[in-house]
Amino acid sequence: MMNETLQQKLNAFDDTLEFAYAKTIPADWYTDPEIYRKECDNVFQNNWLLVGHLHQLEEPSSYFTIEIAGKPILVVRKNSGELRAFANVCPHRGAQLTSNSCGKASRLKCPYHGWSFDLDGNLTGVPYFDDVKDFSREEHGLFSLTVETWANFIFIHMGQDRIPLTEYLSPMPERITEQVQEMHFVEVHEYSVECNWKVFVDNALEGYHMPIVHGNGGIGNLVKDFNIEYHKYLNIQHCLLTKKMGINDERVSKSRTSEAQLYWLFPNVLINIFSNFMVTLCILPYGLDRTKVVISQYSKEHPSQLPPEAIADSVYVSERTLKEDGAICQKVQLGLSSGFFNTARLSVKYEGNIYHFHKLLAQALRKN
Ligand code: FES
Ligand SMILES: [Fe+2]
Repeated sequence: MMNETLQQKLNAFDDTLEFAYAKTIPADWYTDPEIYRKECDNVFQNNWLLVGHLHQLEEPSSYFTIEIAGKPILVVRKNSGELRAFANVCPHRGAQLTSNSCGKASRLKCPYHGWSFDLDGNLTGVPYFDDVKDFSREEHGLFSLTVETWANFIFIHMGQDRIPLTEYLSPMPERITEQVQEMHFVEVHEYSVECNWKVFVDNALEGYHMPIVHGNGGIGNLVKDFNIEYHKYLNIQHCLLTKKMGINDERVSKSRTSEAQLYWLFPNVLINIFSNFMVTLCILPYGLDRTKVVISQYSKEHPSQLPPEAIADSVYVSERTLKEDGAICQKVQLGLSSGFFNTARLSVKYEGNIYHFHKLLAQALRKN
């Protein structure tokens, strides 16, 4: 059961208004440890989460790890090819089973007391436990999580109350499966931003700041027109891009041409599809005011067919944009924590998708 003060904090946001009347979630939703804990449990534990891509598990017996909102996760490919996902937590005394970000192993051995597990999560080795009574190995396997894929992306679900993944992702499976599946992984980079994860999501969603924060030759100079389409768990921005001669950074206009489709998936994923590239952002909470942003680059052409400068240009644009966004997000976090600010009104044209995010968030948080 939720305590009364938490209930009051959650009730302070009205999710029943039309966009034109809407206000954002209150500032304490970005700064309050109690709300953050509730998010870790309700939002991240009870929704489908993007954890990786099949290129990370090409080989049998390969694995990778990821931490999402304080939950360490391990995804493996068995020898048979099947994928499994587990909590990256040893059932003996709770140590993290592996701290490697990826690797290959036919069994996983805990670095604390040496318990070992096969890639189905079964406990196979328990040193010095013969004298322990009423102990069953079957009850001490790894905690299993639901794992599924769509278009080479790997999703997990940590909760019981699941809707089918294709329904959660709708309408992406119907519209863009082939387009996404054909993209080749190029490279991945991680960045740390000193703000609450929702400050970064809010910013990534709205185009209002584009000409100012990403002006001076950045991607903000490219957007000619756009519209936003809303679905249950995602919204899509369709953007027409244009090269305004003389004011663009050449590297920006070369790697982001003609149009962009920006898919935002609740709670923390952006899939940006450009003519020749796809860029995904996974926005990971690392505490109340620290966020890790994992940016992966994909290209339509096989990377071996691409001139090295094309990849470098795409990475440069993502990095330039991230730095511009990160700097302003840190300033927003300061304002939200100051006590001088509570809620904001929103531009219907540019910031309606923030209200969409806040409504989904409120619904998830208000569940017991
Ligand atoms: S905590 Fe893993 S073997 Fe003890
Ligand atoms: Fe931005």
